[in-house]
Amino acid sequence: MSVSTDQHRSLSPAASLRVAVISGSVRKDRMGPTIARWVAATLDPPAAPDPAPALDPAAALDPAPVDLIDVAQVELPDDSLLYPGGGPKSEVADRIAAADAFVFVTPEYNHSYPASLKRLIDWHYGEWRLKPATIVAYGVHGGYAAIEHLRGVLAELSVVTTRRALGLRVPWTSLDDQGRYTPDAELSRGLTASLTELRWWAEVLADARRDRPFTT
Ligand SMILES: Cc1cc2nc3c(=O)[nH]c(=O)nc-3n(C[C@H](O)[C@H](O)[C@H](O)COP(=O)(O)O)c2cc1C
Repeated sequence: MSVSTDQHRSLSPAASLRVAVISGSVRKDRMGPTIARWVAATLDPPAAPDPAPALDPAAALDPAPVDLIDVAQVELPDDSLLYPGGGPKSEVADRIAAADAFVFVTPEYNHSYPASLKRLIDWHYGEWRLKPATIVAYGVHGGYAAIEHLRGVLAELSVVTTRRALGLRVPWTSLDDQGRYTPDAELSRGLTASLTELRWWAEVLADARRDRPFTT
């Protein structure tokens, strides 16, 4: 897979961080996009179509442009064409390549993350490499098994995951009358802490990709 030269830009001192928020569920009536919109509203409040009504003021971050990638909206090539390191260029390859950092929003299915998300991951390679990611998982039990499975897969792609990750237990019980996710302040602060760590890694790795290209 090719890596765009734009990936070698520096984020310091004041360049804006570009974050791809990737929502992995493809079920009908899924929870994923609701959680992904909450993450996007935290990252980029002015651009959010439906900002959460009570974002914790302590959760203020430098705004970052967000590209929301909903796996349900992505048509990937046939899996028979897949080969190690990716396959034919997908319709979202350029969007993934353009991101400085990723937030994976994933449900937990049978103690892991869904096959739909693994498929998106496997269809790309250079687009992910040497960038950071954080994980927001959810489920009946908080999604921690999905988080830990995803970390191992991302490590194989040279993606650095933040120490902090967020597990949301039964988030469907915290929706307002417009269907927006409205968690308590502690969870908002948890998300901000993960995103603050993500930004640090994004800046460090953007400089490293530019100054010390890693080719093996
Ligand atoms: C096939 C399947 C397996 C599931 N397995 C788990 C599980 O292992 N742990 C858990 O906490 N929730 C589990 N759940 C519940 C999901 O976390 C919950 O339905 C969630 O809303 C799914 O996310 P989605 O609506 O975005 O698809 C499972 C749901 C499905 C559909």
